[in-house]
Amino acid sequence: CGIVGYIGHRQAYPIVIKGLQRLEYRGYDSAGVAIYDGDEIQLCKTKGKVDDLKAKVDATINAEGTLGIGHTRWATHGVPNDVNSHPHYSNSGDLVIIHNGIIENYDAIKQELTKRGYTFKSDTDTEVLVNLIEDVQRNQDVKLGKAVQIALNETVGAYAIAVFDKKKPNEIVVARLGSPLAIGIGEDEYFIASDASPFIEYTNNALYLEDGEMAVVRRGKEIKVFNIQDDKIISQPYIQELKLNLEQIEKGGYPHFMLKEIYEQPQAIRDTFRGRMRENKGMIKMAGVDDHIDKFINAKRLVILACGTSWHAGLVAEYIIEELVRVPVEVEYASEFRYRNPVIDKDDVVIAISQSGETADTMAAMKLAKEKGAFVFGVCNVVGSSISREAHAGAYTHAGPEIGVASTKAFTTQITVLTLLGLKVAKAKGRISTSDLHMHLEELRLIPEKVEEALKSNDHVKEIAEVYKNASNCLYLGRGFNFPVALEGALKLKEISYIHAEGYPAAEMKHGPIALIDEHMPVIVIATRRGHYDKVVSNIQEIKSRKGKIIAIVTQGDVTVKELADHVIEVPEVMDSMSPLLTTIPLQLLSYHIAVMLGKNVDQPRNLAKSVTVE
Ligand code: G6P
Repeated sequence: CGIVGYIGHRQAYPIVIKGLQRLEYRGYDSAGVAIYDGDEIQLCKTKGKVDDLKAKVDATINAEGTLGIGHTRWATHGVPNDVNSHPHYSNSGDLVIIHNGIIENYDAIKQELTKRGYTFKSDTDTEVLVNLIEDVQRNQDVKLGKAVQIALNETVGAYAIAVFDKKKPNEIVVARLGSPLAIGIGEDEYFIASDASPFIEYTNNALYLEDGEMAVVRRGKEIKVFNIQDDKIISQPYIQELKLNLEQIEKGGYPHFMLKEIYEQPQAIRDTFRGRMRENKGMIKMAGVDDHIDKFINAKRLVILACGTSWHAGLVAEYIIEELVRVPVEVEYASEFRYRNPVIDKDDVVIAISQSGETADTMAAMKLAKEKGAFVFGVCNVVGSSISREAHAGAYTHAGPEIGVASTKAFTTQITVLTLLGLKVAKAKGRISTSDLHMHLEELRLIPEKVEEALKSNDHVKEIAEVYKNASNCLYLGRGFNFPVALEGALKLKEISYIHAEGYPAAEMKHGPIALIDEHMPVIVIATRRGHYDKVVSNIQEIKSRKGKIIAIVTQGDVTVKELADHVIEVPEVMDSMSPLLTTIPLQLLSYHIAVMLGKNVDQPRNLAKSVTVE
C-alpha cells in the first residue's frame, strides 16, 4: 500500500525505512526493502510491521547502498506472508520491483510466461509483472524504461511501480496508473513515494505523476517523464512546491481520514468492480462464486451474518438479492445468531460480511454455520483476514485500508460486491435476461461518477449541519432499498457526534416514533423518485403537520418534496436498487460535519474500536 524509493548520494536505507514508517498510516500487513550498492542487491521482507522489518534487516543483511526501494503491502492477491511481500525479483535476479495496485489480467500473463519457462515463488500479480518486463527486455533487446513501457501496455489494472535493474545501478523506473506516485526532487537525488510524507524533510519540490505516465530517474541526471501508451516524452513536467505539513499529507490534504475515505468512494467502488464486469458480454467474473455456482443455484435460502455497518450492507443486499434471485434472504446479527441454536443446514448458503475480517462475533457465527453444514461465503475488505480464511470461498471488496473508525467506503463497496453477486446468481438461475443484466451493469459502471456528483453536495450539507448540530435527537427514515440506509445514517451520527439517532422504515413511524416529533426534531427522509416516492411523500406530510424539521434526500430535479421539506439534498437519478450507493453519501457527510462542529474526535470516537475482536 505504500511505496518508497531513493537514488542519490546518501545512504538509501535510513531514508527508505523512515519513509515506510511515514506511510504506516495507510494500513499494511507486510513490508520489505531492497538496497543496492552496485554490487549485490540486499533484499529483505517480512510479514508484519515496519519494526519487524527493521529487526530482520539488522539481523540478516548489510543494507548499504545509495539506491533503495521499500514497500508496505496491503494484500490484494495472495495472503500476507514473507514470500508475497515486496520487493520481488525477476527470474534472472536482475530486476527488482515494488508495486501498489492490481494487475487484473495477471493470470493470463502468468500462464504465457510459465509456458516460456518462467517460474514464480509467490502468488502475487507483482511477480508476474516483473517477469513480463524481463521477458520484454530479453526478447526485444530494449532498455529498462522501454521494457517497462511495453510490458505495462500489456497489462490491465491499476499500479504504482518502481523497478530497477542490477545491471543499471544508476536508475529507477517508475510508473503510475490509478495508484498515486510522487517524486521528490532534491539536489542530485530523487525520492519516490506514494505521497510526499517520506521526503518532505529533504525537499519541497515534488512531481506528481499523472495516470498513464512513467518516469526514469537517473542519478545526477534530469528526470524524464513519458506517456506510457505512446512513449512520448512529456516536456516540462510540472514540479510543484509543497506547502503542506506532514499530517496534512498523510490525510491526503483532508482534515480527517473519515472525510478522505468518504471522498475515496468513487475510486473504491470502481476498484471493487474493476475486472469483475464484462459489460459487453453481459458477464460477471467472481472466482469465489464461479467455483461454487451450484451451491448458489441450489440454495434454498441465503443467510447473511454481520455486525454494525456491515450488517446494514447485508440488509441492502437482502432487498437486492431477493428482488433479483427470488430466494429468501435472512440477515442476522452475528452476535444473536451464534447464541440461539439457529436453524441452518447444508442447503443454506451463508454470507459473512466483515470489513476487517476479524470481528469475533461474525467469526464465531460463521464457524457455527459451517459446523451445521452450510456453505460459507466471505465478503471482507482485508485480504487474508481470519474470516476470509475461514470461509469456503469469498469475494473481496477492494476499498483499500479504512482507517476512520466509522465505516464509509467499506459500506458502499460491500453493497457493490453483493450487487454483483446477486446479478451473477440471478443470471445463473435464469432469473434475469441478458439485456436486463446489461442494463444493471451499465448502471453500476456509472455509479462512481454519480457518487462524485453526490459528493458535490458537501458545502450544502455543511450548512445544514450548522443548523442542526445542537439537536439532541434525530430520526432517519427510508423505505425499500433505502430503509437500511436510514439505519446506517443514524448509526453514523451516533458513532461520531454522540447525538441520539434512530433509523426507521418510514411507514413504521406511525407506530411509535411519530410521538417524538415536534419542532425540535430533525427528521432525515430519503425520498428518491423511484423508491415508493408517493408513500414517502405522505410520510413527509405527516411529519410536517407535527412541525418536525425535514431534511430530505431527493433525486435531482425533484419538485414535490422541495415544496414540503425544510432542506433538500439532491443525488443523481439511478435505478432504485443502486440508490443506496448515492443516498448514503450526504448522510455520511452530514454526520461528519456535525461531529467536526461539535469538536468530536471524528476518526477515533470514544468507546469504539475499528475491529472488535472480543465478543
Ligand atoms: C465495529 C466498527 C464498525 C463496523 C463493525 C463491524 O463496530 O466500529 O464500523 O461496522 O465493527 O466490523 P467489520 O470489520 O466486521 O465489518
